[in-house]
This record gives sequence, structure tokens and C-alpha cells, in this order.
Amino acid sequence: MKRLITVFMLLSLFLINYAQKFDQLAKTPPMGWNSWNKYHCDVSEALIMQMADAMVSSGMKDAGFEYIVIDDCWQIARDENGEIVADKDRFPHGMKYVADYVHSKGLKFGIYSCAGKLTCQKRPGGLGHEYQDARTYTRYGVDYLKYDWCNSSTQDAKSSYANMRDALYAAGRPIVFSICEWGSNKPWEWAGDVGHLWRTTGDIGDSWNSMINIFNQQKDLARYAGPGHWNDPDMLEVGNGGMTYEEYKTHFSLWCMLASPLMAGNDLQNMTPETKSILLNKEIIALDQDSLGRQAVCYRDNGDYQIWIKALAKNEKAICLLNKSDEKKSVMVDYALLAKANTGRRSGPAMNLENYRVRDLWEHKDLILKETSIFVDLLPHTVKVYRFIRK
Ligand code: GAL
Repeated sequence: MKRLITVFMLLSLFLINYAQKFDQLAKTPPMGWNSWNKYHCDVSEALIMQMADAMVSSGMKDAGFEYIVIDDCWQIARDENGEIVADKDRFPHGMKYVADYVHSKGLKFGIYSCAGKLTCQKRPGGLGHEYQDARTYTRYGVDYLKYDWCNSSTQDAKSSYANMRDALYAAGRPIVFSICEWGSNKPWEWAGDVGHLWRTTGDIGDSWNSMINIFNQQKDLARYAGPGHWNDPDMLEVGNGGMTYEEYKTHFSLWCMLASPLMAGNDLQNMTPETKSILLNKEIIALDQDSLGRQAVCYRDNGDYQIWIKALAKNEKAICLLNKSDEKKSVMVDYALLAKANTGRRSGPAMNLENYRVRDLWEHKDLILKETSIFVDLLPHTVKVYRFIRK
């Protein structure tokens, strides 16, 4: 009996200490919009409300984008009680007003702070105010918190983030917790029960080199991702102007293959038809949002030419052919072999091409294959993305 009681006590201790983040959130990678990539500190109530409107009118909400997140610079000081104070010039009605507006559009509201003393833009950070801030966010109606790592001095990353996780949990409102310590302390190794997503690298820039360099750093991280806990290779640059249409297609495809959070970072009010055709490609988004929650693995790596495979629910899979080089490549693709290819951890039974149709997710057409292997031309910096769909 004594032994039973000890086991019971140990078990409850384990349960109390375990998973104090909100468990039911981010079962698929979070999708939304964040102000940073395009607007930096130029955020305001008017901008956020316009973006919420545009999220709905552009069709992005229907495509699955959900969170409107205000990044750095909404906060300006702490008052005499230590309460965080929003910039009155930019947010004259306060943050609850903005949150209510976002909610009235059927969307969710996100905000930003930092585990250090100051944010990266030297606004007040969360250090020492974690429980107070968590309660404040709950009052605002926050659904998503991005928590940065600037000015964290000698703080320990895991305990700093776990402290904020506990504060959010204690405040009681389910909030997606987005860890932004740039991969500095290998968060994939410890953040699974701390946050719902964690940045894996430094900041993305709006250029091919920056994007592909971040992508290259994701290769060994697939096993850490899954429902409720995602690797975050940073927000999207699609539509911001620094890459070509084809490069943005590649950027978006790769992020979806990686089961990355999809945070658009562009002006949603003024999107070109090209930008819309990328961000609203529901067939590509479906790979990202697949319920199995697996990140793609690299199946073949010929340097500039790679093949990536993402296992999908119902024993389907996605294949991405990637040409990183500046030259056109003509590659032999054997679809029967790709159907059989191993998809990494817990692979399902080998697939037989006969039972599947192969759909090109950018052409929005099924392939008509006379042979199972054919030559495919890949222009520089482009991808081909296929889904093997059960017949
Ligand atoms: C960086 C972060 C960016 C952005 C910026 C704001 O540390 O990685 O995504 O949030 O701070 O100052």
C-alpha cells in the first residue's frame, strides 16, 4: 500500500510539473500575420485594424490565417505599479480595444514581449513582471504571445521561458506561447513542454540568400516537430519585394514542407495577384496544416539539387524538388521510387504508385504519367511540389 501511495505521489508530481503550457493549442502550425517584417516599429491601432480587415477581405482568413500579432514597439513604459503601458499616441484606445476589434472579425490577437529586461527595441521587457504581464494580457484578450530574448544578460533560457509559461498558465487564458530565442540554446531540445513553437535561427531578411540560409539550418530538426510543438524558421517575407515571384513560391513551399508556423509579414491591403496566388494556395497550405504534423525530411541531397519528403495523414505524402542553384537543372524523377521512399521516423507501409495520383500543387493539375520516370526542368531557385493522393 505504501509503495502504491509513493507511486501515486510521484505520478502526480510528474503531472503537476509536466505540460504546464496550454495543451490543446497549435495542434497544427499557427497561421497569421505579424507586423515586424514590413512595419518594424511603425505599428498603430489603425494599422492593426486595417490588417484585420484585409485578412478577412483578401480571403486569407478563409485560407486558414488566424492570428494578428503586434510585434515590438506597442509598449512604451511601466507605470508606478509596474503595469505595462501601451504607447498612447499609437494605440489611443488601448490594447483591449484592438483585441476586441480583431476578435470581432473572427480572428485571434497576439502581442509581443521579451524575456529580458528590455525588448530588442529597448521597450520594457517582461523580466520580473511575468505574472503581472500574463494577467494583463489575459485582460486584453491576448491569444498568442511572442517572447523575445534581447537583453537577457546571463539568464538561463529554459527557466526564463518556463517561468513565463507558468505565468500564462496561472493567468488562465489559453495563449499560444511563441519562443523567440533564435535557436541560441537549442530550444528544440527543451522547449517541447515549454512553448508551442520556437525560433530556430536569427532573423529572416527579405532576400533569397537569407531565406535559403535559414532553410539550410532546418535539416536536422524534423524529429523535434509535431502537433503542439513546432520548429519556427521565422516569419514569411512573401510579398515584401526583395525576392522574385518564383523565389517567394519556393520560400512558401519550403515553409509548408517544414510544417512551419505561417506568419505573413507583408502589407495585406495591397497584395499583387502573384502574392495572393502564393499566400492563398490552399493545396500548399494543406501540407503545412496536415493533421499528422510531420516536418519534411531531406531524401536526396545533391548540394544544389535536393528532394524533400513530408509524410501526410492517411498514408499520403508530399514531395518537393528544389533547385537552389543559379542554373537551370534537368533532373530525372522516378515517381514510382518516390512513392516508395521512406519518409523518416515512423514511416507507414511503402506506397505503390498504382494506388495514387500525383498532383502538381502549383500547376493545380494531376500529372499524366506515361512512364513512371521523366525528366523535369527546374529553373534557378525554383521548386516543384507534388502530392501523392490516394485514388
Ligand atoms: C528580434 C526578433 C524579430 C523581431 C525583433 C523586434 O529579436 O527575432 O522577429 O521580433 O526582435 O525587435
